[in-house]
Amino acid sequence: MDIQRPRGTRDFLFEEMKERKQIENSLRDIFETYGYAEIKTPLFEDLSLFTMKSGEGITGQIYNFQDKGGRDLALRPELTAPVARLYLNELQKKPKPLKMYYFGSCFRYERPQKGRWRQFWQLGCELIGGKSPESEAEIIAMAAHSLENLGLDNFEIHIGNLGIIRGILDSADVPRETQDTIMAIIDKGEIEELKNTLKNNDMPPNTREVLLTLVGMEGHREVINNASEILKEMPESLKALKDLDELLNILEAFGFSKYTINLGIARGLDYYSGIVFEIYVHSLGAQKQISGGGTYNLIELFGGEKVESTGFAFGFDRLVECVRLCGMENKPLKTVDVYVAPITRDVKLKAFEIAQDLRKIGIRTDVDLVGRKLKKILSQANNLGADYVVLVGKRELDEDKVTVKNMKTSEQEQVDIKQIPEYFNKIK
Ligand code: HAM
Repeated sequence: MDIQRPRGTRDFLFEEMKERKQIENSLRDIFETYGYAEIKTPLFEDLSLFTMKSGEGITGQIYNFQDKGGRDLALRPELTAPVARLYLNELQKKPKPLKMYYFGSCFRYERPQKGRWRQFWQLGCELIGGKSPESEAEIIAMAAHSLENLGLDNFEIHIGNLGIIRGILDSADVPRETQDTIMAIIDKGEIEELKNTLKNNDMPPNTREVLLTLVGMEGHREVINNASEILKEMPESLKALKDLDELLNILEAFGFSKYTINLGIARGLDYYSGIVFEIYVHSLGAQKQISGGGTYNLIELFGGEKVESTGFAFGFDRLVECVRLCGMENKPLKTVDVYVAPITRDVKLKAFEIAQDLRKIGIRTDVDLVGRKLKKILSQANNLGADYVVLVGKRELDEDKVTVKNMKTSEQEQVDIKQIPEYFNKIK
């Protein structure tokens, strides 16, 4: 029988897992530095959680099924709706703002291609109960910081405010449902389709014109002035533009000014309500969007109180690809600090003991389990990025000593066995 893995899924082998883990840890470090704590939600949820308010784009791609009890369930296509559900179930009474982050796989029935998978990973965060635009600015600064920490500098952060387009459509009394359809077309970037849809909808020609001009506006601070000129008759949109301007002031105070204002960002999910942003890395080609997020009102839509919430998620697999394109994969991946090497088989028990003592004090340690020759052990220690090798030899053991080899300088020194934890603690 020839069993293949399902379309749009992948197996990850050792090297790739090491690389993914390293990137994951780098992102976790930054998120935790900004005060986010990790949560985990189930891989599957009630189908209605995703069909209620996530938007056409997502609902058409859901992996849903009935379980043996006849319940309609779905593999999660994203994590914002599950986190909003979790908040309503468990966290409503907790002091706000709540800062949560997550890392886990998502499932979307898409046409698989490079950078687009049916099972993929997101590392993202939600800030519930913060205030706009301060929370939005901090979140965008954190996204930029995360990318810089990975050594990336070829990303573009595009920021917009959905309130601007919604304001234009509201001023022409376009019903909410039609607005959602229009937003979905803008999100796809289909300008011809947008023109046709606008033509088929009853609205003043001026509204159409303003909308088409606005979705094409992209640039730095000058966009705000140009747009406010065009929107002067539309107070709702003007207010949204002012909010965007204020966000940018705060973002600059957070030390990030390399943003692009992009009034054509619509986002593929229906729950966004204000500031939205997307991060692009053009060298990835068609699937260049490595992250998306913004402010949303899902909690209220699910029947909770109105709580300002904002968040974003990195498409983790695309991020891994970016790091690879940057040539970072050539750096040796470091998985252990110390490698313990029994020189002969008869000292292996002592070697295991030393390795355990080091692990207990938090030093990443590996030990030879397969009785390799010393040359092979040293080469393995090198592959794993070990800084030191502890050579355990029979003759030295009789004097309660081992040799510690510094892998960078090749220097060796004898250390008393009892002193080993202290020795490595000092250089930790
Ligand atoms: P999203 O833009 O749908 O937003 O997904 C976030 C990121 O996941 C995308 O920018 C992309 O990099 C990655 N992604 C999406 N689909 C695929 C796929 N089929 N294969 C590989 N990567 C993919 C959300 O999901 C929102 N929940 C983000 C958010 C959090 N908004 C507020 N809080």
